[in-house]
Amino acid sequence: MYQAPSNLFCTVSLITAATLFGVCATISEANANKVEDLCSARGELWIAVTAQPELTWQEIRSACDAAISQSKAANPLGHAWFVNAGNGFVGVPLALLKVLPDFAPEIWGAPDQSFASFGLFPDPDLPNRILPRGLGVTGALGRPMGADGQPTGEIDYAQPQPLYVTFACGACHSGQIDLGDRRQTMDGAPNTQFDVRKWRNAFSALRKNYLSEAQIGTVEAPGVTTQKLIQLVRSKPKGFFAQGLPQIKDDQIAAVDAAQRAIFTQNAVRILTGLAQSTGVRAAAVELQTRPGSSYGHGDGSPGLAGFSAGQSDGSGDLLADLIAGKAARDGKTPVLLAGPLPNALPRFATVTDAPAVWNQGDRSVGQWDGSVLERFWRNVAAQLPIVGAAEKVDLTNAAIVAEYLTGLPAAPYPLDVDLTKAARGEALFAENCGSCHRPRNESRYPEVRTDMNRARVLNASGGAMFLAAFQAACHDPNFSYTDSYGRHQKPCTMPGYRILRDTTQAANQGYIAPPLDGIWARAPYLHNGSVPTLAHLLKPGTRPTTFLRGVIAYDPANVGWVWEAEKLKTYSARYPTVSIHDTRRDGWSNRGHDRNVVVEGRVRRLDWSDPKSSNDFSALLEYLKTL
Ligand code: HEC
Ligand code: HEC
Repeated sequence: MYQAPSNLFCTVSLITAATLFGVCATISEANANKVEDLCSARGELWIAVTAQPELTWQEIRSACDAAISQSKAANPLGHAWFVNAGNGFVGVPLALLKVLPDFAPEIWGAPDQSFASFGLFPDPDLPNRILPRGLGVTGALGRPMGADGQPTGEIDYAQPQPLYVTFACGACHSGQIDLGDRRQTMDGAPNTQFDVRKWRNAFSALRKNYLSEAQIGTVEAPGVTTQKLIQLVRSKPKGFFAQGLPQIKDDQIAAVDAAQRAIFTQNAVRILTGLAQSTGVRAAAVELQTRPGSSYGHGDGSPGLAGFSAGQSDGSGDLLADLIAGKAARDGKTPVLLAGPLPNALPRFATVTDAPAVWNQGDRSVGQWDGSVLERFWRNVAAQLPIVGAAEKVDLTNAAIVAEYLTGLPAAPYPLDVDLTKAARGEALFAENCGSCHRPRNESRYPEVRTDMNRARVLNASGGAMFLAAFQAACHDPNFSYTDSYGRHQKPCTMPGYRILRDTTQAANQGYIAPPLDGIWARAPYLHNGSVPTLAHLLKPGTRPTTFLRGVIAYDPANVGWVWEAEKLKTYSARYPTVSIHDTRRDGWSNRGHDRNVVVEGRVRRLDWSDPKSSNDFSALLEYLKTL
């Protein structure tokens, strides 16, 4: 039911760039159809099991795994850019980032860990990649483009230019499960280990401890930090700053490596001063956010901004604060901002969310937890803006390529066993009780499920206006165009505001959509704020724990979710570096809602499965949910 025809991609003009990388595998039509049919048995389990009683979940799962491989093979460019291409043409200079673990291991972890302490992991497909999956690298000069206006690669190595590190979508949207003997990566699943706040906080710590004016110094008299960093860059073996870059050829390594060294060593004071300034904008934003009564200013009642929140971020709330602080910095008015009243646009409560699954975007006509962003190209621009910061540096080509890739990317199938007969019984229960809300392309919001409302209320009138203006500024080239996978010519930057954002500034328009539940097994903890650790806890509201673990990637198949018991913190933090406790008593982290039966289209839908009399139905439904 969630399968989009993946071979469509090869007909797309945007994607013809893929052929430049020698791909667009020819999949035998018959073969492809057979595989996809078996995988789509997920959508009609009862029929499949009745027709083929000896069918196993393993067979369905292999077919789904094959469908995912086909989708990757059909659009290798989309896959590569989704997991690893930087979201914009600005960030931290590559040469600097690569030596930070030597410079301050207490902040960045040891050099050989390659930023694992933040919940990032080595790219499973590219073991020699220069950075872990999700840390993208781009050139300051933009992408190399062919005569047809399509990108010919990620970086133009022929031009000496600074290379920057910035997030790729894969940092937050490519997850892993620990199966004991191996870890399996799932593209499009949330990276439940990545702690983006810890990452940002690391830059704040760097600024605070090492980037004072005296520590940076001047060109004539470089300070201790500058001297030490230059020395570290010089000490690295030949090729260190170029080996493992995307599509780099052996004969390009020496020159690219030399250029990165020269650019950093000759401009170190300027680069470090710039980094102190840009990190200072976030510091000012944090000061606003943590002021008493502000979004994170409710003492222990607020979640922290310094980390301990793997898999989560506050895309909207942080962006509002960053936009406000950024404008003040450009106008030279940071002190005025910080001394003045709290800006109206800043929410007075925490609006944290989990990173969602982003596969099968074709089944989602509205995006974000509150269903606010309408168009899928714009969903990606919305994703890029908070990452890149500077609107004019957002990479629109990336937004278009990745939008096409995600349209038909299948959800990862449940990697463990499923009792198919039981699951097939659960299918009918799902249709009766869940399917009317959780169906593809459902744009309705359901405030009646009464989950934590903070995120849904993040935008007031002035915040809404600020958001739309920022999104439109990020779509910085009115002539930008591409051809989508349906062959339609798109000129997204000229779209009027009402086609980009739904108005969520009025109470009557606030609530959460009921997203399709594809690959739901991999999307724990559940609800927009990740406040319920497993599906069993979601369906039996009385059992929901007040505190539980985040950031474990070992699985609990009985309850369907990641291992969650808070008392196992010590055991698991040795193994998974970003494990922390989610405390549902904190602001924005409440686990209420989705806990009482509701009436939809005139029929009662059961959301509470606690009644012992329905325990058989409960376990059939739970079994079925594994197969989505
Ligand atoms: C720093 C982590 C992070 C990165 C990097 C990131 N995202 Fe997201 N993304 C999120 C979070 C968190 C949300 C949910 C925001 C909300 O609604 O509050 C989200 C939401 C989305 C959605 C909406 C999904 C839906 O169905 O509602 C899409 C699509 C998306 N991101 C795509 C992307 C793409 C494409 C990229 C790269 C260009 C990207 N994201 C980079 C964290 C991230
Ligand atoms: C009235 C409409 C409605 C019905 C009926 C409904 N849900 Fe939901 N469901 C929602 C909404 C709205 C959300 C999002 C709430 C949030 O994130 O705060 C949600 C969220 C969820 C989530 C979490 C999704 C995620 O990515 O974390 C799961 C799982 C879920 N529902 C399962 C079910 C099941 C199973 C049933 C049937 C037993 C069901 N729902 C019935 C509206 C509904």
